[in-house]
Order: sequence, then C-alpha cells, then structure tokens
Amino acid sequence: MLILVTGGTGFIGSHTCVELLKAGHGVIILDNLYNSKKDTAARIEALGGGKLVFYEGDIRDRALLDSVFARHAIDAVIHFAGLKAVGESCAKPLEYYGVNIGGTVTLCEAMRDAGCKAMVFSSSATVYGSENFVPFREDMPTGKATNPYGSTKIIIEQLLRDLLASDPDWQICLLRYFNPVGAHPSGQLGEDPNGIPNNLMPIISEVALGRRDCLQVFGGDYDTPDGTGVRDYIHVVDLAQGHIRALENIVGAPGCAIYNLGTGKGLSVLELVRAFTEATGVEIPCKIVGRRPGDIAYCYADVSKAKRELDWEARLSAADMCADVWRWLLRQ
Ligand code: NAD
Ligand code: UD1
Repeated sequence: MLILVTGGTGFIGSHTCVELLKAGHGVIILDNLYNSKKDTAARIEALGGGKLVFYEGDIRDRALLDSVFARHAIDAVIHFAGLKAVGESCAKPLEYYGVNIGGTVTLCEAMRDAGCKAMVFSSSATVYGSENFVPFREDMPTGKATNPYGSTKIIIEQLLRDLLASDPDWQICLLRYFNPVGAHPSGQLGEDPNGIPNNLMPIISEVALGRRDCLQVFGGDYDTPDGTGVRDYIHVVDLAQGHIRALENIVGAPGCAIYNLGTGKGLSVLELVRAFTEATGVEIPCKIVGRRPGDIAYCYADVSKAKRELDWEARLSAADMCADVWRWLLRQ
C-alpha cells in the first residue's frame, strides 16, 4: 500500500515509517519540521531499506494536501502530526486547537475529496481521564480532559466517529498510546524534544547526561506499592509495529476500530529509574517532591483487544527501552 504519514519525521512517526518500509509499503511523509529534522528522512530510508517521498509542509495547507493526493495514489493515512506538550497546551490553547483539530479537519476534507478514506489516528491514554479504573479498556467511556492537549484528542476521536456516521465508507482506527519511550536499537532514531522536556524518560535522560542534578519525583504518597505514579511504558518499536498491524487490518474494512497500544503492565517511577540504572550503569539521583497537578496514580492498558484482533503485543522489556534510549543519547 502507499501510505501518507503526517508527522513522519517525529519520534513515533519515524519509527513507524521504518516498519512500513520494512513491510514493503510505500511511504510519503508530510511534516512541517516544527519538532523534527529533515535528515531523519534519510535515516528512515537507511534503516527501512527503501526510498520514501518527503514533503515539507503543514497539514493545515489545503492546497498542498490536494497536490499531494493528486500526485500519488494514496491508500491510507497515518496521522501523527500535531502538538503534544501538555503544559504548553495550557499556555497556548489556540495553537493546540488550531493545529490538532483544525489540521485534522483540513486533512480529512482533502482525504474525502481525493476519495482516500482510511486513517489511523494517534490518540492517547489521556482520553480515559481520571474517572475510569485500570486497566483501561477500549469500551470504557472517555473521561474529562484536564488540559487542552487532552481535549484535542477527545474531540478528534469524536470528530472521526461523526465523520464515519456521515459516510460509512470511512475506515478509521484510533490508537490510544500509553507511554511511548525507547529508541531504535541502531541508535539512529529516537526522541529529540524541542525545548524543556516534561515527560519522565526525557528527564531521566537529562539527569543521566549530567544536564540536571536530579529527577524530581512528582509524588511519593500515591496509593501504589512504592507511593510513586504507575504507568504503562511501551517501546516505540513495538508501538510502531502495532501501527502496521492496525493499518493492514482496517484498510478495506469500513468502521471505527479502537485499540490500546501498551504492554498491559504498570511500572512505577522508581521502578523505571531502577531499570535505567540496571541497563546503563548510570545512577539517577531522585528527590520526591509534591504531586504534579492532573496526574493520576495508575495508568495502564488492557491490551487483550489488540492481541485478539490484531495479533499484536508488545515484546520489548523495560531493560530494552532504557538500553536503547541510552545508545541513542550517546550517539548524538
Ligand atoms: P513528535 O512531536 O515527535 O512528532 C510530531 C511531528 O508532527 C513532528 O515531526 C512535527 O514536526 C510534526 N508537526 C507538528 N505540527 C505539524 C503541522 N501543523 N503540519 C505538519 N507536521 C506537523 O511527537 P510524537 O511523540 O511522535 O507524537 C506523534 C503523535 O502521537 C502526536 O499526535 C501525539 O499527540 C501522539 N501521542 C504521543 C505520545 C507520546 O508520549 N509521545 C503519547 C500519546 C499520543
Ligand atoms: C503525560 C501527560 C499525558 C500525555 C503523556 C504523553 C500529564 C498530566 N499527562 O502523561 O496527557 O498523553 O504525558 O505525552 O502531563 N514524573 C516524575 N517526574 C518528572 C516527570 C514525570 O515523577 O519529572 C512522573 C509523573 O508524575 C508520572 C510518570 O512520571 O507518574 C510519567 O510521567 P509522564 O512521562 O509525564 O507521562 P504521563 O503523566 O503518563
């Protein structure tokens, strides 16, 4: 199949493009390089063993989208492009609604007019909110967002369901990622956040590289075995492979399928820190501080649906995630 990948030079997109090429699919990337670099495209080609087409541009640019669809017979879109920093979304809600929701509307309009109606969308475990109980299952109602970023994911999921209701030909897949971490085992691709990182693994990385004195652990008094927050960390290569399974399953099968992509196992902040030290030999000094607003104690997936329907499950361990991040950091 020929796949348009929006945001394809980003963290998850780049790993997914490698897996698409390895599986023999054609890849066209559209990315405005807001949070990624153009030379990533060449590394994707080298690791995936194939050529791709790269367009530098914005998903809000309807004329550009029309020209891409006119030039290529695209079978499906994997839609990663968007803004993803929770804190920043509170400071810049208009940018988040504009890029994430406005961009998705423009992309869907261009797809509809080009007759391409298959989309895999990057959603997030954040849509479960704080009202549901772990393990989160796809048939649970979505919760209430605590920030504009989370709102955009809930709204886009609804938008895509409404689109299907208006035209039953659409083939939509909502993938709810848990906590993607790790890097390509070659050390050639990884996470390279612009600005100050907020997520745990990029912060552990900064401490490991000596750019920060210690990791501030947000809350030591949760009702969890060691008092720190529990999350479902998933290796980005496992996550990327989940996209290929999802794509191959939905194209030609109208409807809206929802899958959690996680490992199904929770790890506390201190357990992840321990795994990092065991995998790399690098000590991460920690200091327990107050809870971060909006955080919940537990977040992990029920992954049985993806296993049953996609024949997919995460295979890589926390040790793999940490060793691969470290290899990526040392090669930069
Ligand atoms: P990323 O920032 O590394 O990748 C996003 C890519 O989209 C970047 O290359 C960026 O340059 C591009 N982009 C941004 N705005 C664009 C625009 N207007 N037009 C074209 N390209 C644009 O992020 P990621 O971690 O790879 O996340 C990919 C998707 O997965 C996002 O939608 C994100 O919300 C979602 N997601 C990520 C996580 C996570 O923890 N990384 C968790 C859940 C969901
Ligand atoms: C966060 C976002 C979520 C988003 C996800 C992926 C919040 C409230 N939630 O989820 O909406 O989908 O990232 O982008 O921001 N931690 C520390 N110290 C740190 C950083 C994190 O102790 O410096 C802890 C957190 O309290 C949490 C765990 O590490 O228990 C994971 O945090 P993080 O990587 O930010 O992911 P989430 O909170 O799961």
